[in-house]
Amino acid sequence: MSIKLCCCLISFALFSHVAADFGHIMVNETRQIILRCHQFVKGDATWSREKDGSLSRIITIGVDEDKKHTNDPRYNGRADKSLVIINAKFSDSGRYYCNNEPAVELTVIPPGTKIQRVNETERVTLECPDEESEDSKWSRLFGEIPQQRFKTKNQKLIIQDAKQEDSGLYYCGGKPAVFLNVTRRSTSALITLERAILVVQQSPVQSTV
Ligand SMILES: *[C@@H]1O[C@H](CO)[C@@H](O)[C@H](O)[C@H]1NC(C)=O
Ligand SMILES: *[C@@H]1O[C@H](CO)[C@@H](O)[C@H](O)[C@H]1NC(C)=O
Ligand SMILES: *[C@@H]1O[C@H](CO)[C@@H](O)[C@H](O)[C@H]1NC(C)=O
Repeated sequence: MSIKLCCCLISFALFSHVAADFGHIMVNETRQIILRCHQFVKGDATWSREKDGSLSRIITIGVDEDKKHTNDPRYNGRADKSLVIINAKFSDSGRYYCNNEPAVELTVIPPGTKIQRVNETERVTLECPDEESEDSKWSRLFGEIPQQRFKTKNQKLIIQDAKQEDSGLYYCGGKPAVFLNVTRRSTSALITLERAILVVQQSPVQSTV
């Protein structure tokens, strides 16, 4: 019992402490995607992916040779220790780690998904593709739907005052519904403000998984 609890706490610490450090890549299905480690890696780099709350190893990129931990031939290593995914598909979406450090939160947008654009600070309404569906609960691929700025009405999700971090894939009734692309305002003052907000958000207090 106490061992279990201890493991829980360790994995919680692993994921919660560092959750905010991911880089974000959001792309359509494509021929290849390159994921980079956050920091320069001198020795081996082991890439892994978060699955059901634990990390499953993909490949160890060594100085001289690579060692694959899966049978999937689409994963390859580069000399700079980055991970290349060939023919990236929706199912590759997930959180990737380099030497157990958060590296990339990857969103591969499923084909046929509606892509909706909104400028920052504006209001946007996302619609459930299947209006007949009984289940129209909205969720996100990564993270939670914040309660303050988001509300649902007649199966629609209304976002007030859109923010950069709202960008991403939204699910309605458990199915991918809309990819929201929030365009950053290019005024330098606003970008500085955003950075300040980003720093506040990266404090451990808010980083829940
Ligand atoms: C989001 O919009 C920007 C331009 O505002 C574009 O450069 C980028 O490719 C878009 N992202 C996706 C995933 O469509
Ligand atoms: C993604 O694909 C959609 C069409 O499915 C296209 O409209 C959009 O521009 C593409 N985005 C990027 C970033 O390639
Ligand atoms: C975003 O703002 C630009 C320039 O202010 C404008 O041209 C564009 O139509 C806006 N996009 C949306 C989706 O409202």
